[in-house]
Amino acid sequence: MKDHFTMDAPQPRLLDEMKQGVIGKPMDRPDGPQKVSGTAGYAADHTTENMVHGVLVRATITRGRVRQIDKSSVEAIDGVIDVVTDARMIRNPAQGMAGSAPVQPGDAVHYHGQPIAVVVAETFEAARDAAQRLAVHYETEEAAVTPDTSTDVETGEPETAGNFEAAWSGSEVTVDQTYTTGAHAAAAMEPHAAIAEWKDGAVTLRSALQMVRFNKKELADTLGIDPSKVRILAPFIGGGFGSKLGLGPEAAAAAIAAEKLGRPVRVVMTRQNVFDSVLRRSETSQRVRFGATKAGKITVIAHDDRVSNIDGEGFAEPVTQASQFLYGADGLSFTQTLARIATTPAGSVRAPGEAVGMLAFEAALDELAEKLGIDPVQLRLDNLPETHPMDGRPYSARRLADCLKDGAERFGWADRGAPGSRREGDWQIGMGVASAARANMLIKSSSRVRLTGNRAIVETDMTDIGTGTYAILAQIAAEALGLDPSHVEVRLGDSDLPGASGSGGSFGANSAGSATFLAAKKIRARIAEALGCAEDSLTLQNGLARGDNKEAALTDLVTEEFLEEATVKAGKTSESHFSSGFGAHFAEVAVHEWTGEVRVRRMLGVMSMGRILNEKTARSQAIGGMIWGIGSALTEEMQSDPRDGHVVTRDLANYHVPAHADVPGQMEVVFLEERDDYANPIQTKGIGELGISGAGGAILNAIAHATGRRVYDYPATPDRVLAALDA
Ligand code: MOS
Repeated sequence: MKDHFTMDAPQPRLLDEMKQGVIGKPMDRPDGPQKVSGTAGYAADHTTENMVHGVLVRATITRGRVRQIDKSSVEAIDGVIDVVTDARMIRNPAQGMAGSAPVQPGDAVHYHGQPIAVVVAETFEAARDAAQRLAVHYETEEAAVTPDTSTDVETGEPETAGNFEAAWSGSEVTVDQTYTTGAHAAAAMEPHAAIAEWKDGAVTLRSALQMVRFNKKELADTLGIDPSKVRILAPFIGGGFGSKLGLGPEAAAAAIAAEKLGRPVRVVMTRQNVFDSVLRRSETSQRVRFGATKAGKITVIAHDDRVSNIDGEGFAEPVTQASQFLYGADGLSFTQTLARIATTPAGSVRAPGEAVGMLAFEAALDELAEKLGIDPVQLRLDNLPETHPMDGRPYSARRLADCLKDGAERFGWADRGAPGSRREGDWQIGMGVASAARANMLIKSSSRVRLTGNRAIVETDMTDIGTGTYAILAQIAAEALGLDPSHVEVRLGDSDLPGASGSGGSFGANSAGSATFLAAKKIRARIAEALGCAEDSLTLQNGLARGDNKEAALTDLVTEEFLEEATVKAGKTSESHFSSGFGAHFAEVAVHEWTGEVRVRRMLGVMSMGRILNEKTARSQAIGGMIWGIGSALTEEMQSDPRDGHVVTRDLANYHVPAHADVPGQMEVVFLEERDDYANPIQTKGIGELGISGAGGAILNAIAHATGRRVYDYPATPDRVLAALDA
């Protein structure tokens, strides 16, 4: 019944041969009506009998110990049940795919805003009131809260290829610039939330989580119980963007309090809690060096960065990820420095690495093009490497050159004129380009498909964080089984179902999609057997099976359920070939010469991202990423108080994610047809994060083209733009 498939060799492109014709189609999401009618049950939406409400108490010191929590300070508040502290409480969400408990600090405080207790009350209002009034006595210690003042700073070994020093000293034209980017919040619309309920020594947790297979282990390890005693339900998630990859403090607190009180407990983070104690993206400082010949051949690429995190977190923003495989050079060098600081811990946020690394990298390349007097599109085209510059692997599929050329054509790039040459009143107008790249992965995943008559059910613990998983898995099963997608029910986000990758790193569709395809393929074999035909002669369409001159309706053929499960995992092709999504971003901006305001007027992303499973959800993903590109370039920056590290931008007014008014009406996305035969059995690539990777760079380069001046500290807020204009 089970089928374990390892991706060791390219597979036939069966989805291109199947006859239902639903793959790639812009099908509406089947979960859409539930979402717009408010009937999709998000984590906090469930009410259980006897349920009580927990609110996290946040530490108000930077570092030290909780000496005493004075419960009597809140006892008089009507409805307060308990103030729960426990050595198993967690300091911050688990990192993505950790599969084990995050740091459990006991009474130690490691950052301002760390959850230290949970107040439980009969109502949310009473719990919140008590959490704010609770008297906590601390013992404080000194701690650095900015990378500049940290004394715990470690620089890793450089990753190099070729002879960097020789190539650098021999370069005819060089660029050597340092850039900074602000810390980012994932800023998912749905605040982090959990409801825990115990029964017979086992806990059921409803929580907004991206990777329930891993989250189940994280909760079990946190509580010190066997994973078989944990069930996690996350059928609907209101955005995650990295912030819900790992089990969070709200979930641990709910489980601990529910166990102690013997009642179901719901803990919903306030928006402020989310900003305080959910993993942020590190701020970065990045030095980028390019060397080239006068003719425009890149000879040197160096990208050195400094990022931060709190003690005990292994994660460091992978800033140079795309810098290592986009362009060729004689010498390449990449070095990372990690500063330990006592502030909100850092982790994965929306395209970790590329989202901020490419802001600086693609801006530096633009500056090199300007110095060389070579068109920035042409400079990129002229320096695409034959193989991966660091390890020599061939690319599995790469249409970057086509994306750049096609985009330049569509965007009217040829007419852009000299920097600073276009003006409309007080506005200076410019165009910018940047490459897009985001590494592609296949993560071990299982899926189960059940067919009875012409109705199928897909079951996997894969999640849908708003991306369209319900749609694409239905389309894959429908295509493989010859069914209308409305005849396929998809069940997700339940840790009792076969374990999948979860949603992260843009690998969900590849991974869970491949597993679903392979399970459906096993069912095809059983249908062929039932019909009495060879599997490769079988055609399935609209509930009819045909092959070897036989025909039967599935309703007649499959009267008892066919059930198959498949597991897919990466194999030799991921070692022999390097897989990444590629694309080209173009942006046109207007910069106001007196206020420094930047308006994005239009954006175009031309992308090659393997087989497109659903043209509509893929496009929405790409546009969402490009909008975040606007955020990273222009508006998004988490600010912390340099005295104690507490986050001061703790809501969506102070932390500005682009709103409709910031987004141009013209946001165009073009997909160039592609199949990635080395990526997985369905020839797809990740989509979620490619849209953001490079998009901000195109905007920053457009500012430089509009004004003839460059901003090096991002986001390029009006004050920074004005300073550049005045320089
Ligand atoms: Mo992603 S930042 O791996 O959800």
